[in-house]
Amino acid sequence: METGKLDIDAFVSLIQEGSEFDLSNYSYKSLHRRLARILTDLDTDMPSLLRKMKNDPLFIERMVMECTISTTELFRDPQVWKLIRKDFLRQFLGEEDINIWHAGCSTGQEVYSMLMLLDVEQMLNRGNVTATDLNPHYLNTAIQGCYKYRYNLQYLDNFDTVMKENPDDPDFLEDIPYDRYMIIDPSEDTIRMRQFLLEKPVFLQHDLVKGKRVDSGPFDLILCRNVIIYFNFNLQNRVLQLLYSHLKKGGLLVLGPHESILGSLSDKFERCRMGYLKK
Ligand SMILES: C[S@@+](CC[C@H](N)C(=O)[O-])C[C@H]1O[C@@H](n2cnc3c(N)ncnc32)[C@H](O)[C@@H]1O
Repeated sequence: METGKLDIDAFVSLIQEGSEFDLSNYSYKSLHRRLARILTDLDTDMPSLLRKMKNDPLFIERMVMECTISTTELFRDPQVWKLIRKDFLRQFLGEEDINIWHAGCSTGQEVYSMLMLLDVEQMLNRGNVTATDLNPHYLNTAIQGCYKYRYNLQYLDNFDTVMKENPDDPDFLEDIPYDRYMIIDPSEDTIRMRQFLLEKPVFLQHDLVKGKRVDSGPFDLILCRNVIIYFNFNLQNRVLQLLYSHLKKGGLLVLGPHESILGSLSDKFERCRMGYLKK
């Protein structure tokens, strides 16, 4: 379906006028793909969509949420999680607490991955975990911590790679059963996080574009993975500045595999294998 650049501009303007959200610095390519999908799903065309948006604030909000992409996994990119476990978390073994922010946590799998790592490193009771996202529907799923079994068998492979392989001796597999952390029920088609994990994080709606401060900082570790990839360069830098200002000195920022810090802010971080350490 043809959407055209002007139509995207009109779509973004109507959102700006009719809601508190601002997609004007989201990447054009990503918005184009989402809009094409919206038109197909609603079986409508651009002029009708814009007309509906003009008189319906709830519909505008729904459109904003439809523009966010929820793709995530338990221990997505397992090699990164192995490094976080071995090279970063272990520095906190003797510390009183560790303060963590998941910015753009989607439906929560990243958050539960972190909690499992903290637990296996015996740091769970010292971990303060804040998890935020723009989309309240994703946050609701995150709070429930219940995922489809059939589509997510990859979660279990990732778990084996990160949790069962002993970081000090890759030839030795630790006997950590899945059911320590998850209740897996193929007949119900569910993977459900255990209650002690569900109770731990604080989930909050937070818009990185608005740049409001998150009260629970400053943080030792911020994960903002596969989020700024949907923003243009200008907004990426604004968000990175916000994350920088929430990190402690020596704190670690972990981005997605296709995201990096460019421009003036890059001097303020030291690149390491897991991400970026605040100088
Ligand atoms: C692809 S998911 C990434 C999830 C997870 N971090 C991961 O890497 O597996 C991107 C998330 O960013 C969120 N997001 C998009 N724009 C945002 C904004 N302005 N503020 C906060 N979160 C946003 C989306 O709602 C979505 O949940």
